[in-house]
Amino acid sequence: MSLLKEWYDAITEAQSVEKLEEIRISVFGKKGVLAAEFAKMKTAPNEQKSQIAKELNTHKSSLMNELTVRKITLQTLELEKAMKAEAIDVSLFSSKSEAGALHPVMETMDRIVEYFSSMNFAVKTGNMVEDDFNNFEALNLPKYHPARDMQDTFYFKDEMLLRTHTSPVQIRTMMNTKPPIRMIAPGAVFRRDYDLTHTPMFHQIEGLLVDKEGKVSFANLKYILEDFLKYMFGEVEVRFRPSFFPFTEPSAEVDISCVFCKGKGCRVCSKTGWLEVLGCGIVDPNVFEAVNYKDVSGYAFGLGVERFAMLIHQIGDLRSLFEGDIKFLEQFQ
Ligand code: PHE
Repeated sequence: MSLLKEWYDAITEAQSVEKLEEIRISVFGKKGVLAAEFAKMKTAPNEQKSQIAKELNTHKSSLMNELTVRKITLQTLELEKAMKAEAIDVSLFSSKSEAGALHPVMETMDRIVEYFSSMNFAVKTGNMVEDDFNNFEALNLPKYHPARDMQDTFYFKDEMLLRTHTSPVQIRTMMNTKPPIRMIAPGAVFRRDYDLTHTPMFHQIEGLLVDKEGKVSFANLKYILEDFLKYMFGEVEVRFRPSFFPFTEPSAEVDISCVFCKGKGCRVCSKTGWLEVLGCGIVDPNVFEAVNYKDVSGYAFGLGVERFAMLIHQIGDLRSLFEGDIKFLEQFQ
């Protein structure tokens, strides 16, 4: 019986739940000490048997009791220890404070939107998954037109595709609004391109102004774009070059004097002194016909936001804008 006393000590001294479990098996298991004591009882003189049984049973329940109490204590201690190890001391002093910032593409987009909003252009959004009619057909780009080749993209079934430019927002807006219209449409567009200056996804801002026939001229377009480009790049020269877009006639490409060499000629401007920054023109009558607009005139323009961000921040590889490299992005905070 004195043997049992040792187990009381063992329980109080146990330092882990695992150790406690070992003790439980040694005491209460089939081959445990209690079983052995009860077995011994059988050989004891008859008159002592009930006394021994009584004592053994008392020990049995109090040992069980001790075991439970110790188990709860140990579990609580272990939990506290784990919680302490995982805790974050919010009162600790830190020498580093980090502020988030807008991605250079979004920041540039915001600045462009800011300019046109100040000129009363409403901001419109269309659909990134677009149909053939809005992306091509209504923009005077019929099926099999060679100009479609320059804008290859991802096609879904039923003539649905990832839009190749923001120009379909012109169509969507004209289809559900009466003229006059003054709108810009910022957003992501998709093309099958990948090199130093192209990524399969990039951002454009479209502009469209429509008013009564004869009220909108190329001079209006020229004025606003020159003013806008000076707002974005400071004192730069602006030049309009004849070009072709199926949805504008006449069409022009707009260049600014190189912001790196001030027009002297360098690697960025391929020694020409000029940088191409956007496309524009007077809206083609076929576009107005497609959306059922009569007796109106208008101008439209479109630009690539990444191109602007690259020129503003002097970034050499457009792809780096989409790699999510914090070290790269932190430079523009
Ligand atoms: N949508 C043309 C492009 O992506 C840009 C553009 C828009 C040109 C509007 C003229 C007028 O290349």
